Amino acid sequence: MNFNEKNILITGASTGIGRAIAVALKDFNCNVFLTARRKSLLDRIIEENQNYSANYYSFEHDVAAKQSVQEVFNSITKLHGNIDVAILNAAIGNKVAVKKFNSVHAEQTFQINFLGIVYWIEKLLPSFIERKNGVIVGVSSLADNRGYSRSGFYSASKAALSNFLEGLRIDTHNYGVKIITVKPGFVKTPMTDKNNFAMPFMMDSDRAAKIILKGIEKEKALIAFPLRTVIGSKIIGLLPNRLYEYLARKFFKS
Ligand SMILES: NC(=O)c1ccc[n+]([C@@H]2O[C@H](COP(=O)([O-])OP(=O)(O)OC[C@H]3O[C@@H](n4cnc5c(N)ncnc54)[C@H](OP(=O)(O)O)[C@@H]3O)[C@@H](O)[C@H]2O)c1
Repeated sequence: MNFNEKNILITGASTGIGRAIAVALKDFNCNVFLTARRKSLLDRIIEENQNYSANYYSFEHDVAAKQSVQEVFNSITKLHGNIDVAILNAAIGNKVAVKKFNSVHAEQTFQINFLGIVYWIEKLLPSFIERKNGVIVGVSSLADNRGYSRSGFYSASKAALSNFLEGLRIDTHNYGVKIITVKPGFVKTPMTDKNNFAMPFMMDSDRAAKIILKGIEKEKALIAFPLRTVIGSKIIGLLPNRLYEYLARKFFKS
């Protein structure tokens, strides 16, 4: 796959990994549709990259609102034709202390991290299947492998997303539609800036964006990085439950 001449959608493009992917596309001759709730941040990306090859467009958008997905989809496709590559990246971290347990946090997290992706796929899939073409990239996490302290809703949303994308990949295989799952380890972004625990093998968002774009170009089913965190997460996933929970209690005791 080559990004030239493509219509590329990015959700959650205002900061972090989404922003870095948007900027890393600047030298391709493509249309990049930037979406997020904070449109002013998207417009700044456009301003800063106006002298490069890519054409950028910004849309104020809330992935949790089906109506907003419908409106942005219509605006893009009416003016520019079919979307070719959708990088569905928007998510929230949502750390919740047990004493503040409230289902509202679960609703918010699943609405954005899981349903926000499902709403987009619902809009994209019919034309992708008809054209036997199209790439859907869902940004999940290596934190999809276990329940993590104070991040139960987040890791549950990513586990749901990873499993959903895996099933969809099987179902779309014969229709020429590519479903790519991205599982980053720790990347320095506003999301991880809030964490107060050690984050091993943290990388910067520009490096993460390059790895993700290379993986999309190669049409990999799974883009998981960095290797050391991938191996670490595999080991954590294999730990017996009692040992995992004992170690996790020690690690997250602050
Ligand atoms: N950073 C990491 O270490 C790490 C590790 C594993 C996976 N990930 C995943 O990577 C992706 C990007 O995360 P990040 O670290 O770059 O975080 P980030 O800097 O906080 O970026 C999150 C993006 O999502 C957007 N967003 C949040 N809620 C939205 C909504 N309701 N509608 C539309 N856009 C929304 C935000 O924009 P607005 O607030 O302007 O809407 C922002 O652009 C996420 O899926 C995250 O789970 C990150």
